[in-house]
Amino acid sequence: MNSVEIIGTGSYAPEKVVTNEDMSKVVDTSDEWISSRTGIKERRISVNENTSDLGAKAALRAIENANIKVEDIDLIITATTSPDSYTPSVACIIQEKIGAKNAVCFDVNAACTGFIFALNTAAQFIKTGEYNNALVIGAEVLSKILDWEDRSTCVLFGDGAGAAVIRKGNKEGILKAILGSDGTGGKFLHCPAINVVNPFSEEKELANSKISMNGREVFKFAVKVMVSSIKKVVEDSGLKLEDIDYIIPHQANIRIIEAAAKKLELGMSNFFVNLQNYGNTSGATIPVAVDEMNRRGLLKSGTKIVVVGFGGGLTWGAMVLQWTKE
Ligand code: UT7
Repeated sequence: MNSVEIIGTGSYAPEKVVTNEDMSKVVDTSDEWISSRTGIKERRISVNENTSDLGAKAALRAIENANIKVEDIDLIITATTSPDSYTPSVACIIQEKIGAKNAVCFDVNAACTGFIFALNTAAQFIKTGEYNNALVIGAEVLSKILDWEDRSTCVLFGDGAGAAVIRKGNKEGILKAILGSDGTGGKFLHCPAINVVNPFSEEKELANSKISMNGREVFKFAVKVMVSSIKKVVEDSGLKLEDIDYIIPHQANIRIIEAAAKKLELGMSNFFVNLQNYGNTSGATIPVAVDEMNRRGLLKSGTKIVVVGFGGGLTWGAMVLQWTKE
C-alpha cells in the first residue's frame, strides 16, 4: 500500500459578513443569545456565488499551495450537502471551472462529516495506486437551504469552502481513520429533496427543501461521538492523546467542543476553534480550519492532528493526520 501525504490546502468564504446583530433584524434573536449558546459571532453568506464557485476558489488555492499543475490532479471528490444541482456533481462543475481535465470526479454526502468521508475515500484510491494526486473539497452554500424564518437553525449556519491536495508520498500523512453512520437518527437533522410528485403519484405538492433540526438531540449525539471517536482513532493509531498537537473539531457550537474537552480531560488550547467567524459551514468547517492553521504556520513537519466530525445521517468520523510537508 502507498503512503498518502497532504501537500496543499486552500479555503474561500464569500465576502459578505453577516453579524449576530444583522441576524437580529431577520429573526427574533440577539447577539447575547447566539454568542452565549453557540460562540458564533458572525458568518459569511453568499450573495451571488453557488457551491461550485466557492469550491473552485478553495481548490485553486490548495493546488497553488501544493505547487503542482492542475493537470496533475487525477481525482476530485467534493463533500457537500448543498450542491448546485442533482447532476452534474459539484466535483464535475469544479473540474470544468478549474480546468482539471485529467480528473475523475464525484461527490459524497455525509453532511458535516463529509470532508472526513471524502478525504478517507480519496486516500483509499491513492493507497491502492489507482490515482496519484487527489483534490478533496468541502463546499457549502447552506444559506440557500436554510429556513430563514426558523431562528433555531438559521443563526447557526454559514457558507464556505475548504480543500486539500493529497498525493502518493514517501511519508505517511494519514495515520488512522474511523467512520460511522446511524441512519435511525436521520430525522434529527433533515433537509428533504424533491418528493415523488408526478402525473401518477398520490402526492401533488412539492416539499419544502429546508433544513430542520432537533438541536438538543444533535447536541447530545455530537458530544458522545466526538469523545468516543477521538479516543478510538488515537488508540487505533498506536498513539496516546498527549502525542496529539491539535484537535480540529467540526465547528458547530463552542459548547459541544467544551463539553467534549471536559470529558477528555483536555484544555481548550488543544482545540482549534474558528466558529466565531464562520458559524457552521457543514462539510467545509474542517478543511477551512486545517487551511487556516497551515497558513498561520501552526503545522510543521511531524505535527500530529486529529480531525473529528459529526452531523446529518447521522454520521461521524475522525482521522489522525501527520503533517509531512517541510
Ligand atoms: O453540524 C451539526 C449541526 N448541529 C449542531 O451541532 C447543533 C447542536 N445543537 C445545538 O447547538 C443547540 O441545541 C442549539 C444551539 C441549536 C440550541 O441551544 P439550546 O441551549 O439547546 O437551546 P434550546 O433549543 O433548548 O432553546 C432554548 C430557548 C427556547 O425558548 P424556550 O422554549 O425556552 O422559551 C428557544 O425557543 O431558546 C429559544 N431560541 C432562541 N432564542 C433566541 C432558539 N433559538 C433562538 C434564537 N434566538 N436564535
